[in-house]
Amino acid sequence: MRALSLVLLCSILSAQPPSASLTIKASAPGPKVHRQIFGQFAEHLGFGIYGGIWVGEDSKIPNTRGYRNDVLNALRNLKVPVVRWPGGCFADEYNWREGVGPRSKRPVKINTHWGGVTEPNSFGTHEFMEFAELLGSEAYVSGNVGNGAPREMAEWVEYITSPAGSLADERKANGRVTPWKLPYFGLGNELWGCGGNMRPEYAADVTRRYSTFIKPPAGVTVMKMASGPSDADYNWTEVFMRDASKHFDGIGLHYYTLPGHWAKKGPAYGFDENAWAGTLSKTLKLDEYLTRHAAIMDKYDPAKRIWLGVDEWGSWYDPEPGTNRGFLQQQNTLRDALIAAMNINLFVKHATRVKMANIAQMVNVLQAMIFTKEEKIVLTPTYHVFEMFQPYMDSTSLGIQLTTPWYNKDQHTIPAISASAVRDGAGKMYAGLANADPNRSIAIEIRLEGAVPAKVSGRILTAGTMDARNTFEQPNALIPTTFDGAQILNGVVKAMLPPKSVVMLNIE
Ligand code: AHR
Repeated sequence: MRALSLVLLCSILSAQPPSASLTIKASAPGPKVHRQIFGQFAEHLGFGIYGGIWVGEDSKIPNTRGYRNDVLNALRNLKVPVVRWPGGCFADEYNWREGVGPRSKRPVKINTHWGGVTEPNSFGTHEFMEFAELLGSEAYVSGNVGNGAPREMAEWVEYITSPAGSLADERKANGRVTPWKLPYFGLGNELWGCGGNMRPEYAADVTRRYSTFIKPPAGVTVMKMASGPSDADYNWTEVFMRDASKHFDGIGLHYYTLPGHWAKKGPAYGFDENAWAGTLSKTLKLDEYLTRHAAIMDKYDPAKRIWLGVDEWGSWYDPEPGTNRGFLQQQNTLRDALIAAMNINLFVKHATRVKMANIAQMVNVLQAMIFTKEEKIVLTPTYHVFEMFQPYMDSTSLGIQLTTPWYNKDQHTIPAISASAVRDGAGKMYAGLANADPNRSIAIEIRLEGAVPAKVSGRILTAGTMDARNTFEQPNALIPTTFDGAQILNGVVKAMLPPKSVVMLNIE
């Protein structure tokens, strides 16, 4: 009899969902969460610009002066804080002069890096700066240190920002009288790779040289963003910070999440649980990268003047079958939603140093926000996560203490819950949560240190399958819905997080 009740108790206990607990230090505000961590990246790559953002004024696709209306509206809804352009590797070979003046006279070039297709140059400096203005976004222009000269780069900045002089006159003749704001200018891209295959010592010297000639007009601030490391290349950061940090205001880190390796990355959908777990485990490596790059930066810049900008991040899978391999088109699933939420939580965790991030990329490329096909548009799960996290923009981070069960699959073990918490300008608190376990719900108890919760509500993004996705045929298969799995009991917020879900809680 006793043995039987023990068996019963064990089976009842094993049927209980695993539990997690989160303490939010509501009375101990942390660093600001810069809205720029929700930045995006738009490169001349595949259908990223042409067809994705720009269709030209004569297109039958509804547009405003050449920009797709549907894409503009969707992006406006996200309040995109900053857009990086024109690359990427494309920027390393870009001659800005070929993209200004009457469109019919602009040279048609070959996009040697991405698919060898023709580049009409119809989307150039004016089109990009106007695009950023239409979105209400800041512009982050990446200069060409790869095969361009310092003079070219200096003149580009003068063309964009100067109120007077021949370059300003040329800009005015091309239709723009007042100078544009240029909050960020990139001193090259991936100088260790497509930007020139440089060694860090040489690249640091080149950065010093190019930076010297970026001279915005009096009273105008342009933050100079250096081309930083990839992944765990700590030596790059060390050398740049040691030898060149007086000459830049930010440094970019690039980290892509690949389920496999560069030669065989793995499919964007139709994957198994091992690939789910492996991919999420890879994305979490960013935590260590940010910790160690930031520690090196602290050594040379204890006042934290210099921004760490994760100016390329996101998932990278095998290309969608049947597409041009150089166009980097891939589907976007619930797994990408988890990747997005987990990365944002890491940016918040490292908010003292990470002040910008630019997901790769905005439309139709890699971990895109939006897909377009002719006149059709699809918002991806990643788009929806960005939309859910909007209250985080320019909020104050709150310290957290998280106790979470592990999620194991084969050789992969990761914390099942990823979390962050903030307080917005109006005093409302938000907790961004992700349950990476695709099989088990997790019961989480949230305690506020220094505050008493009165009301909780939330939104959730989840689905029945790991690779649930939106398609042109079913664009709303995966969209956020109201989350009614949270309540307050005795001053504690109790929520049941379904398997493979992203939840945004609003606690008042
Ligand atoms: O985002 C695609 C490419 O990835 C970028 O052009 C390059 O900077 C990086 O290697």
